[in-house]
Amino acid sequence: MTQAFPNWMAEIQARVERALSRRLPAADLAPCRLHAAMRYSVLGGGKRVRPLLTFATGELAGADPARVEHAACAVELIHAYSLVHDDLPCMDDDRMRRGKPTTHVEYDEATALLVGDSLQSLAFSAIAEARLADDPAQQLDMLALLARAAGSRGMAGGQAIDLAAVGQQLTLEELEFMHIHKTGALIRAAVLLGAGCGKLAPAEREALDHFGKCTGLLFQIVDDILDSEADSATLGKTAGKDAAQNKPTYVSILGVPRAHEMANQLRSQAQAALDPFGPRARRLAELSHFIVARQF
Ligand code: IPE
Ligand code: IPE
Ligand code: MG
Ligand code: MG
Ligand code: MG
Repeated sequence: MTQAFPNWMAEIQARVERALSRRLPAADLAPCRLHAAMRYSVLGGGKRVRPLLTFATGELAGADPARVEHAACAVELIHAYSLVHDDLPCMDDDRMRRGKPTTHVEYDEATALLVGDSLQSLAFSAIAEARLADDPAQQLDMLALLARAAGSRGMAGGQAIDLAAVGQQLTLEELEFMHIHKTGALIRAAVLLGAGCGKLAPAEREALDHFGKCTGLLFQIVDDILDSEADSATLGKTAGKDAAQNKPTYVSILGVPRAHEMANQLRSQAQAALDPFGPRARRLAELSHFIVARQF
């Protein structure tokens, strides 16, 4: 019998926690303060949505979970780095993340900057240092994919747009472009890296790419809604920041009800992309439901 979704999720989350802990340098290894801050920023928190997507896609593609684990860690390390930098005073200036003080508050700004740099390097090591795909060319493609997703044409570029958009009126199209980059790119990469560890027909890979694209945008729309509707204790981060900082979001442009509608529409699109896989895509379908229905 297939495991229930909450059990599967808890199992993968625990597996990812162990794998990340093994991969991160020990806190008593020099430079100790930097290593302690890296561990502080990555371990013991977070929903691990991106690794869950990588595992779910890996399973669908018949990949060896030991290989998928490396890819899942790589994506989560890039994500954790992006959060540490996102919270810096020069960006969103946030003091709480995952229910605890942000890295620059707990340590200092320079350390937080270096934590981000170091986590990014560690992410690429995770893909470069082990065998992830039978075909070395496929593995190189995976490295290139993550590099694109993290860089100026992906997450970092999206963050630049986000900062430039403070106080601006964006069109829905511009807002979508921003979200697809700052959050969508890495979520899409999480899906495609899981696929890369296994074997899929080109049309199947394309369907998953579409699923990843819809899910990435969906994820940030829900983040915008939660920022305006949930409380800080539930979120583990400061609620209401987007409005306070005058950031254009799906909520500021469409209002909450239409933002919800948009999220549900995208979920249906994501679901439709999974149709050709039938029950093989069960975990991905469950994850997209989790992403829409989540409370934090
Ligand atoms: C928060 O991401 C930042 C965004 C990209 C919207 P998550 O909601 O995945 O944060 P954690 O990893 O669970 O803390
Ligand atoms: C963060 O978006 C996106 C990245 C970190 C790349 P937000 O700024 O909305 O994330 P939160 O709300 O601080 O988690
Ligand atoms: Mg931000
Ligand atoms: Mg932020
Ligand atoms: Mg947010």
